[in-house]
Amino acid sequence: MSMVRVQSIMSNELAKRSIFSRPPEPPHEYLLNDPSTSIFIGITKLFSVPFTWTFANLTNPHIAVVGITGAGKSYFVKTFLTRASYVWNTNAIIVDWAGEYKAWVKQSGGTVVSLGKGDFINIMDLSGMKPVDRAKQIMNSLEILTDIAEFPEQKRLTAEALEQAYVNFGFASSQLPEPGKEVPTLKEVIALLEEKLQEGSYEYPAELENAVYRLRQFAREGEDYFARKSTIDLGRLASSGLVSIDLSNLPDEKFRAMAALFILQTLKEKMRTEGWSASKGLKALVVLDEAWKVASDERSDAVMIVREGRKYQFGLIVASQNPTDINEAIFSNVGTTIMLRVKFEKFLDYLQGSLNFSGFMRGEISKFGVGQAAIDMSFQTSVQFPEVFLINRVVGEVPLDVYTITMADILNEQELSNPDVQKELSMEKIDINSRLIQANFNSDTINDIFKELDARNRMIDIRGLVQILSGEKVSKEAIVELLRSFGLQDSIITRVFVYVT
Ligand SMILES: Nc1ncnc2c1ncn2[C@@H]1O[C@H](COP(=O)(O)OP(=O)(O)OP(=O)(O)O)[C@@H](O)[C@H]1O
Ligand SMILES: [Mg+2]
Repeated sequence: MSMVRVQSIMSNELAKRSIFSRPPEPPHEYLLNDPSTSIFIGITKLFSVPFTWTFANLTNPHIAVVGITGAGKSYFVKTFLTRASYVWNTNAIIVDWAGEYKAWVKQSGGTVVSLGKGDFINIMDLSGMKPVDRAKQIMNSLEILTDIAEFPEQKRLTAEALEQAYVNFGFASSQLPEPGKEVPTLKEVIALLEEKLQEGSYEYPAELENAVYRLRQFAREGEDYFARKSTIDLGRLASSGLVSIDLSNLPDEKFRAMAALFILQTLKEKMRTEGWSASKGLKALVVLDEAWKVASDERSDAVMIVREGRKYQFGLIVASQNPTDINEAIFSNVGTTIMLRVKFEKFLDYLQGSLNFSGFMRGEISKFGVGQAAIDMSFQTSVQFPEVFLINRVVGEVPLDVYTITMADILNEQELSNPDVQKELSMEKIDINSRLIQANFNSDTINDIFKELDARNRMIDIRGLVQILSGEKVSKEAIVELLRSFGLQDSIITRVFVYVT
C-alpha cells in the first residue's frame, strides 16, 4: 500500500511543475526571460515568478494600460520607459496631455517641449517628407478635428492652397525636400486663400471664406502654436532619448489633439522612411496617456503605428482610464494589456469580453490596490494556458523624495491588523506637486502645504493633511478629487470627512 507523503517545496519550484491541466498562470518559461534583454515588471501572485517582459514571442510590442485615476498607470509607464532605456537604449516620446510627466522627465535628464509656453511646432515642417505627403497629413488632421470632410469644395481649396504654399517656397510637390530649407506656415496658406477671395473671380466666395475661417483658428495671433517656425527639430524626435511633449498649456482639446496627431504622423513617417534595421529590443516607444481623441479615431496614425510598428521595432503605449476610449483596432491588437484597478462594470464588461478572463479575475481587478495588476499577453503561437495572470504590484524604481501619508487615524482595529488593508501612502514630491497643480491649487498654497509637511518630517496622517488643505480654503470637492488621484477609494475618503470636524 502506498502512502501520501507531504513534501515541503518552494513556490518557484512548484511553478515549474505542470501539475494542473490548465495552470492559472502562464508557465515560467513564458514569464521569466533573460534580464539583459527583457524588462522586469513585478512578481506573479500565484507562483511568485519574477515577470520580465519581452515582445520576442508576442504578436507585437504595443501595450495598453487601463485603470482608474490613481491606479498606477503613469507609474507603470515611467518604470517601463526607464528600464527600456537601460536595457535597449530605447528612445521615448511622451505625448503628455495633462503635463503629468514633465517633472519626472526633467529629473531623469530628458527634454521637455512645452507647447503653448515658449515652444512651437510648424505643422508644415517637412522633416524629410515630400510636400504632397505632408499636405495629405495636414488634411487628415483637419478631417479628424474639424468638419472639413462635410464640405468637399472647401477641402479641395484648402488642399490646393497647402500645396501651392510649398511651391511658392521653392519646393516641388512630389520630390524629397532639401534639408534645412525654409518652409511656409499656415499663415501663408491662409494668405493664398484670401488673395483668391480678393481677386473676386472665384464663383463660390462663401466656400473660400469658410475655408479661411477654419484654418485661422490654428493661426490666430497668440494662438499660433502650429503656425510659427518650429522650436524643436522634429526629424530627430525619435532619436533624442527621453522627450515629453507637454500639451497641458495649450488652450483646449482641439489644440492638444492637433499637436498629438502631428507628432504621430511625423514619427510614423520616420519609422517608415528610415526602415530601421533589425536589432534586439525596441528603438522607440511612443506614449499616449489619456489622449483619447487621438487614440479613439481610426484615422489617427496611432492605428498605423500599431499595424506596422513591430517590423520597425517601434512600440506604442496607450494609457487610459476608459478602455472604450481606445480604438478597437488598437485595443484588440496590442500584444500586452496591463489592467490596473478598474471599477466601472461597463469597463469590466468590455475588458472581460475582449480578453476573455474568468469571473474570479474580474473580481480581483475591481478590488486591486495601487500598482496591483492583471496582465494579458497575446503570444504569436497558440498556447494552452490562460493568457491573463496577476502580479503582486508593479515594482518601480526607488522613489527619491518621499512623503508619507498614514491612514491609521481612520482605520479600525480589525483593519489595522489586516495585512491586506493599505495603511499608508508614499509619494514622491514631484508627484504630489504635479497632482496639486492638476487640481488647480495655486503656487502659494502648494508651497504652504509642503512647508507644513516638511515641518512634520514629511509624514502626516490623512486627517492632518485634510486639515491643512481646509485651512488653505481648498474646497471639499477639490480635496476629494486630490485624494482620489492618490489612489484612495471613496469609502476611505468618506471616512476622512466624517472624522474631521
Ligand atoms: N506600483 C506602484 N508602487 C508604488 N507606488 C505606486 C505604484 N503605482 C502607483 N503608485 C503611486 O500612486 C500614485 C498614483 O499613481 P499614478 O500617478 O501612476 O496613477 P494614474 O493611474 O496615472 O492616475 P491618473 O489617471 O490620475 O493619471 C502615485 O503617487 C504613484 O507614485
Ligand atoms: Mg496618470
